Amino acid sequence: MPALKNCHNISDLRQRAKGKLPKPMFDYIDGGADDEWTMRRNTEAFDDYELMPNYLKDIDSIDLKTKVLGTELELPFFLSPTGMSRLFHHEKELGACRAANEFGTLYSLSTMSTTSLEEVAAATPGPKMFQIYIFKDRELTREFVHRCKASAYQALCLTVDTPLAGNRERDLYNGMTMPPKITPKSFFSYGTSFEWLFNLMLSPNFKLANVTHRVDALGKGTMGLMDYVNSQFDRTVTWDDAAWLAEQWDGPFVIKGLQSPEDAKRAVEIGASALMVSNHGGRQLEGAPAPVDCIAPIRDAIGDELELIVDGGIRRGTHIIKALAQGANACSIGRPYLYGLASGGQKGVERSLTLLKAELERSMALLGVNNISDIRGEHVQRRR
Ligand SMILES: Cc1cc2nc3c(=O)[nH]c(=O)nc-3n(C[C@H](O)[C@H](O)[C@H](O)COP(=O)(O)O)c2cc1C
Repeated sequence: MPALKNCHNISDLRQRAKGKLPKPMFDYIDGGADDEWTMRRNTEAFDDYELMPNYLKDIDSIDLKTKVLGTELELPFFLSPTGMSRLFHHEKELGACRAANEFGTLYSLSTMSTTSLEEVAAATPGPKMFQIYIFKDRELTREFVHRCKASAYQALCLTVDTPLAGNRERDLYNGMTMPPKITPKSFFSYGTSFEWLFNLMLSPNFKLANVTHRVDALGKGTMGLMDYVNSQFDRTVTWDDAAWLAEQWDGPFVIKGLQSPEDAKRAVEIGASALMVSNHGGRQLEGAPAPVDCIAPIRDAIGDELELIVDGGIRRGTHIIKALAQGANACSIGRPYLYGLASGGQKGVERSLTLLKAELERSMALLGVNNISDIRGEHVQRRR
């Protein structure tokens, strides 16, 4: 397992995370739905595009500043919402949101976090977005909106690709539960992760901090992750409910998980301000297209009506450039920072951001652009 300072790309951080975590926890981050085709395709799709450089330009200073969701960010990418960070490191969401703040970028907090939205707000002054679901318990959804306003979250993000949980077979084979249950059968998969086990004893604290007070089922002991998720999600949610939620919120309203131009047009109609073009990192619908391939068709359909954020498969600075060149306003990352979190808490997340930032700066200089707004369609072409 490489030391943090010897992790020179996201793939190295993944290797380190693998060495640090018990197998069920690593697989929970690393896995996707069914045969994981969509998950692999999310990254592989970037190989279908080439970057076209322009030389003999003054590229002495490179500026990564980007304005998205009404907020000035130091980077054109931010942290996607991911649930249950305590599974991966005892610094949990706090390690990730503090790292985002250090880099002047936005942190998205998942409804399914192991730190409450108030605790995250108190931990960092940086820009924050809360990711919300429309639960069967609508009162809980309404309550989240009030709490986010009270804690001054900049944006609200409705995830729509999870009316039920995807089929994550690695979790089934590993007997993954929330909170984790160490049984004689599962002991050996935990046995070599001494540091993780030690911290488990010091601070178990595996609660879904935003919802525990209302979710009676959690009081009934350990239950399968899939069972829990399925019991809370509402398959009857429609565009009318999304419109209702958009009305409750005063600031930027983001819809996460769309891929089709038709859905993007509906998002414009209900008053969304941005889309996260995403397939949940290949964890939901197997066979869904790679987000990077969806940008141009969505842009063609809606013009500049919405900001577009590409989320899924980004592992390199050049991937970010390819997404921006096709019309995305910003990008977002999930697993890359979770591998960092598992590798070393806040320091590990910072390592992942350092690596992607350095790759992005270097590649922009080699491409011949100084600013994010200079990255345009002519810099990218489909591979023949
Ligand atoms: C461990 C894990 C947990 C996630 N939890 C959530 C979640 O609670 N809500 C959500 O909208 N997306 C969730 N996602 C999806 C991410 O927000 C994001 O769409 C995805 O990770 C992007 O793909 P990437 O990991 O290839 O960057 C999760 C992803 C992972 C890997």
